[in-house]
Amino acid sequence: MAAAIAPLTGMVLAFAWPPEAYLWFKTLHIVGVVVWFAGLFYLVRLFIYHREAAELEPPLRQAFEAQYALMERRLANIITTPGMVVAVVCAVGLLSVNPAWLQQGWMHAKLAFVLALLAYHAFCYRLMGRLRQGQCLWSGRQLRALNELPTLLLVIVVMLVVFKNQFPTGAATWFLVALVVAMAASIQFYARWRRLRAERQAAELAAGG
Ligand code: HEM
Repeated sequence: MAAAIAPLTGMVLAFAWPPEAYLWFKTLHIVGVVVWFAGLFYLVRLFIYHREAAELEPPLRQAFEAQYALMERRLANIITTPGMVVAVVCAVGLLSVNPAWLQQGWMHAKLAFVLALLAYHAFCYRLMGRLRQGQCLWSGRQLRALNELPTLLLVIVVMLVVFKNQFPTGAATWFLVALVVAMAASIQFYARWRRLRAERQAAELAAGG
């Protein structure tokens, strides 16, 4: 990984960066990361609504599906991908100002998780296309579970960048892992509870009518 990036950083190194360049790159890198994640989280939430619109009756169904497809495309192209580009370009800037990071183990681990995140980003585009064509095989429940993956990657990458080579493996880390798992489980339970309640209300209405 380090070897693949080294020529790129070498080219950028040709510039004589002003002393404050590192802090500017870091500022914009963090802004890019925040925008990227906001986009990724909301995108898959839209996929869930889009997928569940399939349960509506025909005229309403088409209208909702078209609206969700439009919102997804705009969110992905105007927010999520530009956020990713800013985060990655500024990360290259950070490495070009301080190439020594590329010799460190925590950075290799971080780059591996970032690759996983980029694959997730690409997979979201694939899902968006499938949804638009009405060919998505993922259920709302599976999409909810998928939406937990970036949370996990976010926690790991932020821990790597903060703790660097002193990555903690003690009780606090396990507590954080348990918190993420509990959050994911409660989202699934809440969705299930809402679905069962809606089914019960529909059955009561049908019985009343
Ligand atoms: C494209 C791949 C990436 C590279 C090469 C990269 C590289 C870097 C570098 C060199 C720093 C400065 C570290 C320091 O000064 O201590 C940094 C900071 C940071 N990165 Fe990344 N990064 C990448 C992607 C990401 C992603 C995807 C996230 C979020 C999930 C992220 C979150 C952060 C945060 C929060 C900081 C600030 C840490 C601090 O100041 O203590 N980075 N990154």
